[in-house]
This record gives sequence, C-alpha cells and structure tokens, in this order.
Amino acid sequence: MILAIESSCDDSSVALLKGHRLIGLKQSGQEEHQRFGGVVPELASRAHQEWLSLMIKDLIHDTSTSWSDVQAIAYTQGPGLMGSLMVGSAVAKGLALTLDIPLIGVNHLHGHLVSHFVEHEPEEGVFPMLSLTVSGGHTHLVWMESWLEGSMLCETLDDAAGEAFDKCAKMLGLPYPGGPVLDRLAREGNPGAYTWPIPQVGNETYSFSGLKTSVLYYLAKQKPDLEDRSDSALRDLCASIQSTVVEVLMRPVVYHAGLRKPRSLGLAGGVAANSLLRSRFLALGEQLGCQVHIPPMSWCTDNAAMIAASARILLEHGYRSGEAMGQKLLPRWPLMEYLGELSALNLGLQSGS
Ligand code: KG4
Ligand code: ZN
Repeated sequence: MILAIESSCDDSSVALLKGHRLIGLKQSGQEEHQRFGGVVPELASRAHQEWLSLMIKDLIHDTSTSWSDVQAIAYTQGPGLMGSLMVGSAVAKGLALTLDIPLIGVNHLHGHLVSHFVEHEPEEGVFPMLSLTVSGGHTHLVWMESWLEGSMLCETLDDAAGEAFDKCAKMLGLPYPGGPVLDRLAREGNPGAYTWPIPQVGNETYSFSGLKTSVLYYLAKQKPDLEDRSDSALRDLCASIQSTVVEVLMRPVVYHAGLRKPRSLGLAGGVAANSLLRSRFLALGEQLGCQVHIPPMSWCTDNAAMIAASARILLEHGYRSGEAMGQKLLPRWPLMEYLGELSALNLGLQSGS
C-alpha cells in the first residue's frame, strides 16, 4: 500500500493506493485565494501545514488502515511552489523515517499523465500514446512509448491553457479559478459570436498570450455590459474564448495523431475537465479508431491519487527510494528532464508495457 501526498500548489491531498485499488482519498481546496484572484504562495504553504497531517490522520482512521500496511510514502517532489512542496516533503520524509519505509519523490506532471490509470487497468496495449497535459501551469503534448519513456511534441511558448482560461475569465469579472465557471457559461453561449485570432505557430508550439491580449483590447474598447449575467454577451464571450482555446489545443493533436498513428489518446490536467475539450478528444478517438484515456473529473485537477499511481509505476519498474533525483525539491522540473533522469537508471523499461 502506498500513502501519497500532493501539495504542489493550492490543493492539499492525501491518498492510499493498494495495487489498482484506491483505498481512500482526501482533498482540501483552499478558498482563501479566491479574494486575491490567484494563488498566494505563502497562504498556500500555511494551509498545507495546517491540513496535511490532519488529513493523513483521518485517512488512516477512516479506512481502518494499520500503519504497518503502508509500504511506501510518495510525495510531489516538483514542479510546483517551493513553500508548498516543502511542507508536503517534510511530512512525507517524517513518515518514511518513522516507519522506516521507502520514500518516493514523484514528478507532478507524470502524476497527471497517469491520472487515468489510478484504478483503470486497460486490457489492450496503451502505447504508443499521444497525450496532452493541460493545467494551470503546464501545456504540453507528448508521445509516450511506455509509462516512463517519451518525447516532447508540442509545448507552450507563453501561457498555459488553464492560465489563458483563468486570465480571460478574470477580465470578464468571473471568480477564480475562472476555467470551470467559463466552461459552464459557455454551454449557453454562441461560439461563433466573436472571432479571436488563432496563432500561426506550427504544430510544435502552443501560444495563448495573443488571445488574452485580444480579449483585453476588445473589452477596453467595446465595454460590453458584463454585470448583467442574463445578457447573452457574457455567455457568447465565454463560448468563443473556450472554442478558441480548444481549437488551438486540438490542431497539433490532430496533426500528430494523423502523422504518427497512436494506439491511444490521453488527456490530463485540470483543463481536461473542460467539457468541449473532452468531447473533441472523444470524437477524435472515434474517428481514428483508437482508445481515449481521460480521467474522471475529480482526478483531472491536482490530487494525491495520481501521485500514488505514478509511484506505483516507478516501484513496478524496480525504482528504489531516492535514486537519481535524490530528494531535493524541484520547483521547476520539466517532464522530459525527469524521463531522461529515469532512463539513465536503466529501470525495467519495456516499450509497449
Ligand atoms: O491541474 P490543476 O488542478 O492545477 C495545476 O497543476 O495547475 O489545473 C487547474 C487549472 C485552472 O487553471 C482551472 O481554471 C482549470 O484547470 N480548469 C478548467 C476547468 N476545470 C479546471 N479549465 C477549463 N474548463 C474547466 N472545466
Ligand atoms: Zn497539476
């Protein structure tokens, strides 16, 4: 059984995973950031400090788990906010030392990548998988040959997709985080009511800063009445912004899928909760005749279940505590750097496994 801790940003989460069975999961969002319109790092680390130990105590109690059943502690080693990572790692290290069991530092982005596989064991082979991770801090499309081998196909030059949603939503006067609210309003709007520029940056890069600037200029010039939520202007703006972000995200996916013929498509990260993006992925999978792996809504945003799943995969491949990366916290830790470090370890990697 693996006990996992996620504390990379503003969600405190702990989970217990036994093989492919999630024994328990506790999540605590931090509402204190809302009035600031974004995450305040110092508040985030203080809240983790307040909550993590209590959540672990409750998790162990509510699942009637004995500490002697816990065989490894996993935690998010990076990327993320330094203060938040520090709190999670201190709790994880304390537990691993006390219980004298392995401590596994997990790359948060790898956690997102495998978030559909916490409990899901596909019968057919998954790889090669074309996988898009879209969150508040990251946007990248990768080609995965196995759980631990992959290459980067397309990444963002500027903002992440979640950031684009949140910043546009903020300009429209919507509460933080704006992505889910914008998604809800977009369902009743007309995506064709406004046209926003699609950046012509090819299929190896994403860019969202142009959209943000166009929305800003439009709002400053036209001054639409956004106070009146019953007015269709707000919903049309949401629908058109959402369809532009999704169009920008999908173009390289469609291009690389056509070129490389993956066996499956993967979608992960907070923005994978977006209804339009989910439906576009499902439609593409059907069109190409390949599997589509999208985590359930609750596992799209940051959670410890995905951290546990990533640690399980590492352990299954013979990874031992602290190898290569040590336990140093890594606020900036690109997925490809992580996979490169793992490949140098010559774990039991098998393409297609
Ligand atoms: O993965 P995540 O929980 O945290 C990071 O690692 O960043 O992603 C959070 C992001 C936020 O930007 C939030 O607005 C966005 O995911 N998000 C959505 C939706 N649900 C969450 N964006 C668009 N549509 C949604 N339904
Ligand atoms: Zn995340």
